[in-house]
Amino acid sequence: MSAEATLDSMERLDQDMAAKHMMGFWRWNEVIAPHPVTTVQAHLWRWNDVYQHLVRAADLVDSERAERRAALLTNPGLNGQYTTHTIHASLQHLKPHEHVSAHRHTFAALRFILRGRGGYTTVQGQRCEMEAGDLILTPQLTWHDHSNDGDDPVVWLDEHDLPPVMALQQFAQDSYGQFQQPVQTTSRGSVACSGWSNQSIGRTPLSCITAGETPSRRCCHWPRSRLPLIRLTGSCSSSATP
Ligand SMILES: [Fe+2]
Repeated sequence: MSAEATLDSMERLDQDMAAKHMMGFWRWNEVIAPHPVTTVQAHLWRWNDVYQHLVRAADLVDSERAERRAALLTNPGLNGQYTTHTIHASLQHLKPHEHVSAHRHTFAALRFILRGRGGYTTVQGQRCEMEAGDLILTPQLTWHDHSNDGDDPVVWLDEHDLPPVMALQQFAQDSYGQFQQPVQTTSRGSVACSGWSNQSIGRTPLSCITAGETPSRRCCHWPRSRLPLIRLTGSCSSSATP
């Protein structure tokens, strides 16, 4: 049998299998590589570029047009979909005295506050104040809404685990039913994130954790996190093995 006849037969085989929703496993030999291959590219988003577009969006995009006014950071290697293959990151902008409604979803979120005072996010009834440097966690399926009672814009970085949730076909989102949740607790008195990590690796609990204080797992305020982190850095460097 000639090489041309073999090629023709392979093509017909592939076509006939495709018509029956099958594919020959031998075709995988054409894409198998000896090392992982990614299309994700290194990329730098500059604050001035992002912020000027958020300011323009603040004039053009109201809460009726978009439930959240955010600029998604799209990786140039991912066809404009996500920031990396596992992370969906965006910068969200809340105008002075603006409020956005409560919802929840199957992907989790964390928020690093970048600018502004007077904002807060209520997560499952806990009001978490927003100041630059703070970290707020929103586990999957927790209700959350955002408000800005201040006179300046509030901007934060959102990070979501949306890509793996979408890959598992588990994306879902629903509304709270009322515009905002009733506040049951506040983030006042919550402990620093570094306190948890310090405990989890068996080190002496830091002074910011006091008897009877229940660690908040949603709000990490930068002023209370900074000093314990500096102490932890010194502790790690002095006990580290070469
Ligand atoms: Fe959300």
